[in-house]
Amino acid sequence: MTQDDMKKAAAHAALEFVPREGVIGVGTGSTANYFIDELASLKGRLEGAVASSVATAERLKRHGIPVLDLNDAGTLAVYVDGADEATAQRALIKGGGGALTREKIVAAASRTFVCIADEGKLVDVLGRFPLPVEVIPMARSLVAREIVTLGGEPVWRQGVKTDNGNIILDVHGLKILDPWALEERLNQITGVVTNGLFARRGADILLLGTPSGVRRL
Ligand code: A5P
Repeated sequence: MTQDDMKKAAAHAALEFVPREGVIGVGTGSTANYFIDELASLKGRLEGAVASSVATAERLKRHGIPVLDLNDAGTLAVYVDGADEATAQRALIKGGGGALTREKIVAAASRTFVCIADEGKLVDVLGRFPLPVEVIPMARSLVAREIVTLGGEPVWRQGVKTDNGNIILDVHGLKILDPWALEERLNQITGVVTNGLFARRGADILLLGTPSGVRRL
């Protein structure tokens, strides 16, 4: 079974969490894209979806699924999205696709966060995947210096501008033993918009595609 097959299986399993009616939140990335394709079969029963990126909004629209502004949607029943790394405690690193800030906002606005991924994303300790940090452009060097004092090696994701007009620093060399504390610490750095640790609001349900089926944590 390929990694893509495992992503597709996890995406399919998430359909079970889609409510009978109303609005859901939809994430960004290849696994979330598989979910959007699956969601098309249920579109008649949904009022619409809130997208965590411009790319996701476009894909939803291509399937004929109405895209709503979060400000008009209120609290969402469920948010479905992928991850770059996940622990068994359901803390995540996200933002490999650069959509971390909107992902964090939609996750915060949702009652249940269902994370979908292939089993290769499951780790004991977060940090082998470089941690994305979205930064206001003029603060790039300032934030990078602060991150170095925390023991990280920030690398500017050159040529990338987020949907919010900001830049991304990918922080290498971290062994994140306390994701909750590091998430909070990074958010204290002036110029940081948000960071890709989803620990304070982690996933409620983790669906992992494996060669022997979908594992639920
Ligand atoms: C997007 O910014 C990310 O948070 C994605 O959710 C994450 O990178 C997972 O992507 P894949 O589903 O493509 O692995």
